[in-house]
Amino acid sequence: MRVLVIGGSGLVGRPTASELVRRGHTVAVLTRRGAGGPPGAESFTGDVTTGAGVAAALDGVECVVDCGNVVTMSRKAAVGYFTTTTRRLGELGKAAGVRHHVVLGIPDVAGPRPERLTDLARQLVAHRGERRTVVGLRLPGRTPHAMRDGGQLPGPDALLRGPTFADWLLA
Ligand SMILES: NC(=O)c1ccc[n+]([C@@H]2O[C@H](COP(=O)([O-])OP(=O)(O)OC[C@H]3O[C@@H](n4cnc5c(N)ncnc54)[C@H](OP(=O)(O)O)[C@@H]3O)[C@@H](O)[C@H]2O)c1
Repeated sequence: MRVLVIGGSGLVGRPTASELVRRGHTVAVLTRRGAGGPPGAESFTGDVTTGAGVAAALDGVECVVDCGNVVTMSRKAAVGYFTTTTRRLGELGKAAGVRHHVVLGIPDVAGPRPERLTDLARQLVAHRGERRTVVGLRLPGRTPHAMRDGGQLPGPDALLRGPTFADWLLA
């Protein structure tokens, strides 16, 4: 199948595109720089925030895997990026006859959902049958502070899906 990996030069997108090539799919990657995809993948230059170049890259594509990202600690900027780009890719993909649209969640094995890392670490330790003390540290600085304030958490109307951390532990 022809697959377009948005952000196919990124931390998640490049290995994803590489694995798709390895599995015999016809893979294209789209990034603003138009470079940095894995060997065997065709490169397109485009911008999913403006839509520039996206329609051309979608030609003949059956599946879009969206690994695009914005690096920010601003909830507004993150929500704005993912809302705009998901909607845009959905609309352009539909017009192009895309049948599958894979979207990555906000980083968290459990979520996204509000959880404390120390609690997850304690669950992990207990699940392994170990006796250890988990101590939470409060890191100084802007980024940890923004994370503590919930800068990466979903809004109240978000639809939370699994797997939960407990599901993940049992898998
Ligand atoms: N990193 C993690 O540990 C992790 C864990 C779980 C989930 N995730 C999720 O996985 C997704 C990808 O994260 P990542 O860490 O792999 O991101 P990343 O390394 O920052 O890569 C972002 C990719 O998107 C491209 N890109 C950025 N803005 C774009 C735009 N406007 N139009 C087209 N391409 C654009 C970048 O290339 P250009 O700069 O050339 O455009 C790059 O290829 C995100 O949804 C993230 O929340 C990440």
